[in-house]
Amino acid sequence: MSSAVPSSVPVEPNAPDLSLVICTLNEGAAIRAVIEEICDTLEGISHEIIVVDDDSKDNTADEVRAVAATRPNVRLHVRVGERGLSSAAMKGWDIAHGRFLGVMDGDGQHDPAAIRELAQLILKGDKDLVCVSRYIGKTETGLSGIRDLGSKAFTWVTGLVLKVPLSDPMSGCFMMTRDYYLSARPKLTGLGFKILLDIASSSKTKPRFGEIKASLRQRQGGESKLDLRVVIDLVAVLIEKATGGLLPARFVMFVGVGLSGVVVYSAVLILAHMFFRDGSYLPLYRFQFRTDDVVSYSVAIWLSMTWNFFLNNILTFRDKRLQGWGLLRGLLGFYVACSVGALISLALALFMKEELKVHWLPAGILAAVLSSVWNFWGAMLLSWRT
Ligand code: GDD
Ligand code: MN
Repeated sequence: MSSAVPSSVPVEPNAPDLSLVICTLNEGAAIRAVIEEICDTLEGISHEIIVVDDDSKDNTADEVRAVAATRPNVRLHVRVGERGLSSAAMKGWDIAHGRFLGVMDGDGQHDPAAIRELAQLILKGDKDLVCVSRYIGKTETGLSGIRDLGSKAFTWVTGLVLKVPLSDPMSGCFMMTRDYYLSARPKLTGLGFKILLDIASSSKTKPRFGEIKASLRQRQGGESKLDLRVVIDLVAVLIEKATGGLLPARFVMFVGVGLSGVVVYSAVLILAHMFFRDGSYLPLYRFQFRTDDVVSYSVAIWLSMTWNFFLNNILTFRDKRLQGWGLLRGLLGFYVACSVGALISLALALFMKEELKVHWLPAGILAAVLSSVWNFWGAMLLSWRT
């Protein structure tokens, strides 16, 4: 995704000053009121509203179309088969016409008054990025001991990879110049929820930035989409940024899933040895193997591979999640990719041990790590096709 060339729409003479993107997933209850409210607050500021909807199952798209029928500055873009707040925002900016690009939520949590203030600030032209922050001024978070510690530790880690001293890098409401966006665009992961963090740690230049204080309002209906997977995405994105792209976020998640597969593999082996004993022997080629060993290793390999596939589908590639026939095709592709990966691992381990005289254990582990790179690319090519 990060390698895709941005379809930067050229700014035409009659283009609006500001393109404000609103990403939605099942926000039918709130979206209409949110758009109306924003259009009213931005009265006098030349702007367009682009709603990027990920094929919501409720009436979100119809609600947006209804507003767009009376307000020509409102546009709707529906993405099918894709998910993710960050990549949805990028899609919106890629098709935007404005000189300045912004994003806000579609559930009414962002205060319209703050958005007007933000628009006026960026339109002055002496800033590259301006954002709404919940944490300006005070460091007192109001959180209990352990959460306060966690929050501070997290802000500290985030500070290490950020190129901007943002007080609220998790903010989902900000505006920037088109140039600043384009300078960051090639390095964006587009994964997860935290597009501000992604951008602020990707741009080549240190931006002139501004913040205004505003707290979040209550959701106007519907429910939050923030869950544990969003947090996992965020950690993976931070690792990618901290390693300067050496460990891509998706690869980090893939390896994490792989490690959980090792646990499944071991558990299945242990269970099989406890409950399945069979003293008979199976002749294979010139060897005799115990039937129960052959069966338990095979079942353990198959189950852990299948586990890895499904976990990758809901975690690592959840923005490209496979369903229906695609799921079956993807599963078969994954078996093929992993089988080839296993052969590569075997060949590498033998080569390192025999030719390079590496001890058998590091040789085996290094071979497994190296072949996981193949597994990752193989899975991308054969299953999720990203
Ligand atoms: N297109 C699209 N695709 N939109 C999505 C998706 C998705 O996969 N997931 C969430 N959204 C939209 C929601 O419909 C909503 O308009 C907005 O993104 C924010 O999602 P919420 O589910 O309301 O998130 P939140 O309230 O928990 O998180 C808020 O706080 C964070 C700050 O801590 C949001 O403001 C975030 O943007 C912000 O980063
Ligand atoms: Mn919300």
